[in-house]
Amino acid sequence: MRKAIIAGNWKMNKTIAEAQSLAEGVKIDLAEETGVDVVLCPPFTALKTVSDVVSGTQIKLGAQNVHFEQSGAYTGEVSPAMLRDLYCHYVILGHSERRAMFGESSAIVNRKVKAALAGNLLPIVCVGETLEERDAGQVETVVETQVRESLADISAEEMKKIIIAYEPVWAIGTGRTASPEQAQEVHALIRDVLRKMYDDGVAQAVRIQYGGSMKPSNAAELLAQPDIDGGLIGGAALDPHSFVQIVAAARQD
Ligand code: 13P
Repeated sequence: MRKAIIAGNWKMNKTIAEAQSLAEGVKIDLAEETGVDVVLCPPFTALKTVSDVVSGTQIKLGAQNVHFEQSGAYTGEVSPAMLRDLYCHYVILGHSERRAMFGESSAIVNRKVKAALAGNLLPIVCVGETLEERDAGQVETVVETQVRESLADISAEEMKKIIIAYEPVWAIGTGRTASPEQAQEVHALIRDVLRKMYDDGVAQAVRIQYGGSMKPSNAAELLAQPDIDGGLIGGAALDPHSFVQIVAAARQD
């Protein structure tokens, strides 16, 4: 049985004071153990504050990006060790916004995955097709290629630590969610790719999150799908009550 994982990707939102109040809101509502891995991914500038708020609770901290080198002359970048310093456990890699707007190829994502693992961070690796690619019948090819290239040369043991997030680009921030059946189909496909790259043990162990307009009203039916093991939440993670309702929908007890 894979443990559900719900992560909030706050993107480029929240000043320090706002981040503190959002994290505190989540913490108060999640005082009771949930049996779900809960992760908050604020912007870099609010990591320290959120780290202090969630310290000693079931809530873990994640970053939204990391550089692939451990240190050096990389102006504006942040290293894995810097994130560990702030008690970050997770890092989102290859989000479609980074792929589309900041030129992140799967080859770059692959370097970041390796750097994150070497720096003791758990990568959340995002994949997903655009609407044009879906309309052209290319979902399978696009997603399989992203998975294979982003995870190239990763050992089976390392793979078990990685989380994959399937985020169809057309569903992000649009209010247009993939139907549970559409999402399940691609999640099953991703698990099949892992089976081909590794074996059934690895394919069954890896958790695959869905992301794209997930909210309290649609979370339960998405999370009920056999290959959907959690959610990567954007907009709905900016409100503590919505986020906590999604965590509640993921509870397996
Ligand atoms: P929304 O939940 O706002 O659609 O964003 C999803 C996402 O991109 C999470 O990484």
